[in-house]
Amino acid sequence: MLQGKTALVTGGAARIGAACVEALAAAGADVVVHFHSSGQEAQKVAESARARGVRAGTVRGDLASEEQTRAIFSSALELTGGIDILVNSASIFPGEPLGEAGFASLEENSRVNAWAPLLLSQLFASQKRYADRENAPEAEGLGNIVNLLDTRITDYDRHHAAYSLSKRSLFSITRMLSVEYAPAIKVNAVAPGLILPPRGEGPEYLRRMADTNPMRRCGSIADVTSALLFLITTTFITGQVIFVDGGRRTRGSMYGT
Ligand SMILES: NC(=O)c1ccc[n+]([C@@H]2O[C@H](COP(=O)([O-])OP(=O)(O)OC[C@H]3O[C@@H](n4cnc5c(N)ncnc54)[C@H](OP(=O)(O)O)[C@@H]3O)[C@@H](O)[C@H]2O)c1
Repeated sequence: MLQGKTALVTGGAARIGAACVEALAAAGADVVVHFHSSGQEAQKVAESARARGVRAGTVRGDLASEEQTRAIFSSALELTGGIDILVNSASIFPGEPLGEAGFASLEENSRVNAWAPLLLSQLFASQKRYADRENAPEAEGLGNIVNLLDTRITDYDRHHAAYSLSKRSLFSITRMLSVEYAPAIKVNAVAPGLILPPRGEGPEYLRRMADTNPMRRCGSIADVTSALLFLITTTFITGQVIFVDGGRRTRGSMYGT
């Protein structure tokens, strides 16, 4: 399905990002696994991609840094010669109410969760292959950017204010870039709900929260990766968000007081 394509996945060493790498490799894409601190895990993810017969490499960098974010993309280009698919999955998720969110936290969340995806998108779009913005390429030549959002963008999660603001910002960036980069590049997003417990929480967290969505269960990582592959392989969808949230966004105030 994606043979001959190359994907860069940020935060690809673990959890949902690693599953995105695996799904892309299983679909035949060569992959670049970005990581920050999980070097060994990134190597393992790349190894298991190679075992599927695709090319796979790793790049390290801190997405809070503009310089390192630029270096991540340059290294990915050096490894591969060109990127066809960019998946912005890396994220921070600090717990913090709005009343305590200072400039430092607001800025860090914005940098990692919104500005770095924007910068990577700009670098992605500046590749020569997408330079001709006026003439639509054939379907197989379309570039793809997919951003990982969060169903929280539709509601007010009082416990993760700076994170929620940054994801709303990434939602707006997704819509804006879908206009700016058409017709050569599609820009879409997946907004998961309850998939994995936050780091530091166990399965009990998911059990406790499952009742807050109409489907009364958690989603699986495969629910997220099938939305990802769908968005990448369709040719007429851009500026779209697929909510993989069991209908959670429809329920109104969901995150408690
Ligand atoms: N888990 C869920 O159920 C859920 C629900 C809603 C939305 N989402 C969204 O889906 C995406 C993936 O979720 P997840 O739970 O798998 O993510 P995660 O485990 O919280 O984080 C993914 C990766 O982000 C990387 N990262 C964090 N800070 C970084 C920095 N400064 N520079 C570079 N990389 C950095 C980390 O890489 P290293 O390990 O290499 O340091 C980490 O492995 C996120 O965008 C999240 O907001 C997830």
